[in-house]
Amino acid sequence: MLDDRMLDIRGLTLDIHGARPLREIDLVLKKGKSLGVVGESGSGKSLTALSIMGLLPNGAVAQGQALWKGRDLLALTEDQYRTIRGREIAMIFQDPMSSLNPSFTVGFQIDEVLKIKMGIRNAAERRARGLSLLKEVGIPAPEERWNSYPHQMSGGMSQRVSIAMALASEPELLIADEPTTALDVTVQAQILELLRRLIHERHMSMIFVTHDLAVAAKVCDEIAVFYAGVAVEQGPSEMVFETPRHPYTQALLRARPTKIQASSEGRRPRLAAIPGSVPRSTEQIAGCVFASRCEKVMESCFTKRPPVAEGANSRKSRCLLQGDQ
Ligand SMILES: Nc1ncnc2c1ncn2[C@@H]1O[C@H](COP(=O)(O)OP(=O)(O)O)[C@@H](O)[C@H]1O
Ligand SMILES: [Mg+2]
Repeated sequence: MLDDRMLDIRGLTLDIHGARPLREIDLVLKKGKSLGVVGESGSGKSLTALSIMGLLPNGAVAQGQALWKGRDLLALTEDQYRTIRGREIAMIFQDPMSSLNPSFTVGFQIDEVLKIKMGIRNAAERRARGLSLLKEVGIPAPEERWNSYPHQMSGGMSQRVSIAMALASEPELLIADEPTTALDVTVQAQILELLRRLIHERHMSMIFVTHDLAVAAKVCDEIAVFYAGVAVEQGPSEMVFETPRHPYTQALLRARPTKIQASSEGRRPRLAAIPGSVPRSTEQIAGCVFASRCEKVMESCFTKRPPVAEGANSRKSRCLLQGDQ
């Protein structure tokens, strides 16, 4: 049943030079919805995003499926990908300069997207469309910005321009990989609000990658929690936040700093509070990736890989305890 599943990732496994950074990732994105992908640094968030975009690192071998409107992205040729990447699916990055070319003006770069990806031949039409995009993403005085170079703008403004460029091709899915991590706190909030408004107004779907569960819960309809290359839990944001199912998510929420700590120590959850360390991607793991740190661990957790347990409200988790919680 294809139903409302726009993207359906099944058992996505990635091997790179003897390491396995993704271990059977399962992820579902519904049409018009936003999905937060949350996890610590190194948990496989970016590689999952890049797998969807068909931008795998050299030497990476993918197994599994990534069904985009029923079509397996992992099986596409580079030529076939070109009709999807940057057209149906667009991506923005933590560093807006990854999307912007320092040698060309903002206007030139947006114009290129409208000419090449959208096939708009009329230069005046492209300029009008480009200026309206800049306005839509909240750039003041778009006519002046049109002739600016990326380095002449602040980080927040550059990120807005990279969002405008992503929108220029009217994608159905926007993947945002930690788009606010490099920005000041006040600017972060503005960009989050902008993204929220844009996906609502344009009826786009979004995959929003972040290390901050609270931010994901605020911005996204659903949340998927990653740990050591596994999506250990997925479900509606407020449910995952209020009643986490996987022991890792439970520990993650407990490790979040209090408000007082948050102002003095930054907002990152301090996972060091959980004894043990994350397994390396080169480790062979027969059972659950969280077993060695889990306070609810059972003997079977070390030998049996937890299957995806589906519960009510499209909640999913990979834990042998599922059903008891
Ligand atoms: N090009 C690459 N080659 C080999 N290993 C990589 C490559 N890119 C990332 N990795 C490894 O894969 C794991 C997941 O990386 P990544 O998806 O970037 O994590 P995240 O975005 O969650 O911080 C990390 O252990 C990282 O070192
Ligand atoms: Mg990353």
